[in-house]
Amino acid sequence: MTLSYVGTQKFKLSPFALYEHAVQSPDIHVDFFSRLFREIRGREAVLLREDFCGTFRISCAWAAGSPAREAVAVDLDPAPLRHGRRVHLGALPAPAAARVRVVRGDVRTVRLPPADLVVVCNYSFWLFRSEAGLSRYLRAARRGLGPEGVLVLESLAGRPAPTRTTSFRRGGRPWFTFTWERRSWNPATRRLRAAIHFRDPEGRELRDAFTYDFRFWRAAEIERLLRAAGFGAVGIVRGKPTGASLPIFVVATV
Ligand SMILES: C[S@@+](CC[C@H](N)C(=O)[O-])C[C@H]1O[C@@H](n2cnc3c(N)ncnc32)[C@H](O)[C@@H]1O
Repeated sequence: MTLSYVGTQKFKLSPFALYEHAVQSPDIHVDFFSRLFREIRGREAVLLREDFCGTFRISCAWAAGSPAREAVAVDLDPAPLRHGRRVHLGALPAPAAARVRVVRGDVRTVRLPPADLVVVCNYSFWLFRSEAGLSRYLRAARRGLGPEGVLVLESLAGRPAPTRTTSFRRGGRPWFTFTWERRSWNPATRRLRAAIHFRDPEGRELRDAFTYDFRFWRAAEIERLLRAAGFGAVGIVRGKPTGASLPIFVVATV
């Protein structure tokens, strides 16, 4: 993840705060994950592990939802973890905050207590562009699950969205614009390069706030690699189509 500031003045808002507002809905995700686990296992999930957690809002929302729940959030990059600790963990009541463990580490090698759920949001596993790379991660996720564990990968079917800008307002006034730039997309190799930019109403621009070099994996490829990594049942939950893309969750049980 690369951060850069362009313009005469530093952008007023944290790129993490803008990103969260533009693309995340942690309560909806948490509700979905808990219902999904209950439907599959017939009981409540307790320990959720959020891989590639960034600012780990899902972990915080998970722990806030019930005193029985615990979360562990894993990311390599100290910058989003710092933001998450300051903004989200800091806002939780002390007992809920005590049930969130934040780990700076590599999702492929970290050793943690067995989780009921391992969740990967916003396509983060697409960072692994080779079969060997993704398989290594899926095996690690499998090892990180308990005997009734469930892995949930947020992904997309169809084609990656083209470049588009969305405007956000606050208090009836323009707040910021969010641009998703599809820099290059090769349907043959499935490689997708993209960037996120923000602009405030005064015209200050935060270019390349986040940049991505992804492989847009097909659901069938993910399913094959999940089975090879030792998962049992694999299913797909489909969301509402948005333009050329169809949001999906790939769900795999141990
Ligand atoms: C696309 S961001 C997603 C953040 C968050 N999950 C979300 O939904 O917005 C991907 C995150 O994965 C982290 N990351 C990349 N490779 C990793 C690895 N091997 N182990 C742990 N985290 C990693 C990056 O630091 C970054 O915060």
